[in-house]
Amino acid sequence: MNIQRNEEDAKAIVKQLGEDIKEFEGKTILITGGFGFLGQMFIPVAKILNHTNFTSPCKIILMDNFITSSELIKNELDYDFVEFIEHDVIQRIPIKQKIDFIIHAAGIASPTYYRKYPLETLDVAIQGTRNMLDIAKENNSKLLFFSSSEIYGDPYNDDVPTSEDYRGNVSCLGPRACYDESKRLGETITRIYFEQFGVHSVIVRPFNVFGPGMNKNDYRVLPNFARQIITGNNVKVYGTGNQTRTYCYITDAVTGFIKALLNGKPGEAYNIGNDSPEISVIELTKHISNVIQQEVKVELSEYPSSYPPDEPQRRCPDLTKSRRDLDFNPTVNLEDGLQKFFEWARIAYS
Ligand SMILES: NC(=O)c1ccc[n+]([C@@H]2O[C@H](COP(=O)([O-])OP(=O)(O)OC[C@H]3O[C@@H](n4cnc5c(N)ncnc54)[C@H](O)[C@@H]3O)[C@@H](O)[C@H]2O)c1
Repeated sequence: MNIQRNEEDAKAIVKQLGEDIKEFEGKTILITGGFGFLGQMFIPVAKILNHTNFTSPCKIILMDNFITSSELIKNELDYDFVEFIEHDVIQRIPIKQKIDFIIHAAGIASPTYYRKYPLETLDVAIQGTRNMLDIAKENNSKLLFFSSSEIYGDPYNDDVPTSEDYRGNVSCLGPRACYDESKRLGETITRIYFEQFGVHSVIVRPFNVFGPGMNKNDYRVLPNFARQIITGNNVKVYGTGNQTRTYCYITDAVTGFIKALLNGKPGEAYNIGNDSPEISVIELTKHISNVIQQEVKVELSEYPSSYPPDEPQRRCPDLTKSRRDLDFNPTVNLEDGLQKFFEWARIAYS
């Protein structure tokens, strides 16, 4: 259900990428965190490319240790261009074949899980990233490191929308530090491997990507709300509900990630997300209600002990650099994205 989802989404990504995608022809791409929400999306994209665009197919190696994803989707991986390696990227791994691209998406992305696994969260972003950079160095591969918009911490209003040169307002001792600080260090290692060894490594900082493929038990805002709505429960909003975010549909985000990998400047970081509308969590529930044409009952709630407090108050990317260097322009509006997500979630989460 997860991997064989919406071919339309994959087609939209291939269309937006145009001729750039030719660089993958006949190449081998290693995807860490390949069973996660973002990593999986490369499979239907590669399927289309191999069936319709490429004479020489690209090969995908998926690497995951299933710490936050389900093993069940292994059964859906019946494609001759996909190989799967069950592996924790914190451990080094000798890879015999030539790797042309590394998409290092392994990470513990959901606040609920990084509260549960703080040391694993640190290790995957730091040691895991270093191990992948070593493979890139040995193979002369292009590498994409998935950092996060969370590296900005809790910016003051003057720094929102937030551009890549903002240095961050992050607490190294706060409840979110294991994620924020390790992603920051992961970026530093990525930059050093470019400067010291010339590794072609590019960093992306995703801002609240959503869409089909998000695990039902992911606990990030949209799967959380969708699960509660679909099971007929009130939507629990933590804190005041006034914290703001922008939301980026998966097709736009994956297009941006691939553009960054192929055309980004090595050693540089790029914001990937949507720069409008910036809305509060309460406003998000109203958008959902409009889209699904159903009343959404909101219940303000204390932060549960399983969820790290100290949430950033505002999150919105400045996309000037990504527009300029990558020609990245998100195209899916919030309502359309929510529509597609809820249509999928109604089946996947019931
Ligand atoms: N989705 C977003 O909006 C968003 C925002 C900011 C950053 N990111 C980053 O993008 C990447 C992908 O995010 P996602 O939404 O797909 O998350 P996800 O949780 O759906 O997927 C991450 C995958 O990484 C795997 N993983 C974790 N530690 C591992 C390890 N040590 N070895 C091998 N596999 C491991 C997990 O099992 C999971 O399948 C993450 O690094 C995340 O931090 C995502």
